[in-house]
Parts: sequence; structure tokens; C-alpha cells
Amino acid sequence: MALVPYDDTHLWGMQKLHRLSSVYSFANHTIQIQQNWKQLGVAAVVWDAAVVLCTYLEMGDIDLQGRSVIELGAGTGLLGIVAALLGAHVTITDRQAALAFLRSNVQANLPTDIQPRAVVKELTWGQNLTSFSAGHYDFILGADIVYLEDTFADLLQTLNYLCADHTVILLSCRLRYERDQNFLMMLRGFFSVREVRYDPGNDIHIFEARRHKQKDEL
Ligand SMILES: C[S@@+](CC[C@H](N)C(=O)[O-])C[C@H]1O[C@@H](n2cnc3c(N)ncnc32)[C@H](O)[C@@H]1O
Repeated sequence: MALVPYDDTHLWGMQKLHRLSSVYSFANHTIQIQQNWKQLGVAAVVWDAAVVLCTYLEMGDIDLQGRSVIELGAGTGLLGIVAALLGAHVTITDRQAALAFLRSNVQANLPTDIQPRAVVKELTWGQNLTSFSAGHYDFILGADIVYLEDTFADLLQTLNYLCADHTVILLSCRLRYERDQNFLMMLRGFFSVREVRYDPGNDIHIFEARRHKQKDEL
């Protein structure tokens, strides 16, 4: 599957995507992300869902200090970078074609003492999952990764594989199409899902999902 951009008719949104870099302030750090929409499309720009989830993490309701985190479909890596700056051990993943650009943004934005806590690794949903330790992660993060219907089953399989009973999944997304609601229905088949935040300015939802409890645990 190519890294193809898709239509975003909102003019301001398009302008942001075409910038060659964008600057953020999270966790007392200035983060400068390089973007390359023209060559790499959706994986090489920062989506609003990532910024909204970074803001949520920074609010501090969730303590990431020393926790084990994996980010799926990381794109430029902003979310994984912020998780690392907030003290987590982070595995930042995307498809092979996105990795070089992702790695350069991660390396450019993490101080040398924090770099050992962030690993960039290929994870194409549904593929080679055994190279990740199942059930190892405290948090699974994903920003704007619910958008391609063809990938829904693989994404769900990946979440199922990586998720242990204690794992918290946080997905931020704009629900653009009916199919995105379908993914939430599929997710509810395996996980207890609740909306923990809605950002009306950006029209971004954050959903938290946890594995269904077994009957004998209830
Ligand atoms: C809309 S972008 C979001 C990027 C980033 N999370 C953000 O919010 O800025 C979707 C990301 O999902 C990744 N992606 C799409 N299909 C994938 C797949 N089958 N396996 C792994 N990653 C995939 C893309 O490469 C891209 O980085």
C-alpha cells in the first residue's frame, strides 16, 4: 500500500500539512517536526489527532513515568516523542516506508539522555507481530490511525495481540466517515471502550479501550 495523501478540503488544514516543519511545546520542550507531505503523504505530516492526544497526556491524568508504551502508525513521531519526554519507554512504529523520516524526527527531538528510552521499529498492522512481546505494554497509543477500512481487521488483530489485561489503549481520531464508526463497533467486540475527551475545536475524539473483563473477574 502506498503512502498516498487523501483529500482534506479544509483550507487551513491543508496549509498546515504543506508546511516543511511545525513547532510544538510539550513537556517543557520545544519540538520541531519536519514534514514532507509532497513525497511521503499522510505519514510525514502531523495530524490534529496527535496534537490533541499529546495535550491529553501532558495534562497528567495518566502517569507515563517508567511505563512501557507502544505507538502505532506514528507518522512523524510527535506523540511517541512526547510520551518519551514524559518519562515513558516507547516503541514508536509505522510501516517500513515511513521509518527513515520518523527516525530522523525522533532523533532530532529527544535529548541524548532520553534517546535510549525510544526505539523506532517497523510494525505493519497484522504482520510479524511475534517480533513484539505480547502483553508487554502498559499503553498502546494511536493518533489518526482509524481511516483505512482495508486495514481495520489487521489493526484490530494488532491491538488484540499487543494488549494485556492491564493495558490501556488510547486512540485519538476524527470520525470522518461512517466506516470509522464501524471500526469502533468492531473494537467494542473485544474491548470496553469509552470516550475520555472530545476536542470540539479540532473535532477530535479520544477513546480509551481496555480488554473486556472475564466473567469470573466481574
Ligand atoms: C493519518 S496518519 C497519522 C500519523 C500520526 N499518528 C499523526 O497523527 O500525526 C496515519 C498513519 O498510519 C500509518 N499506517 C497506515 N496503514 C498502516 C498499516 N497497515 N500498518 C502500520 N501503519 C499504517 C501511516 O503510515 C501513517 O503514518
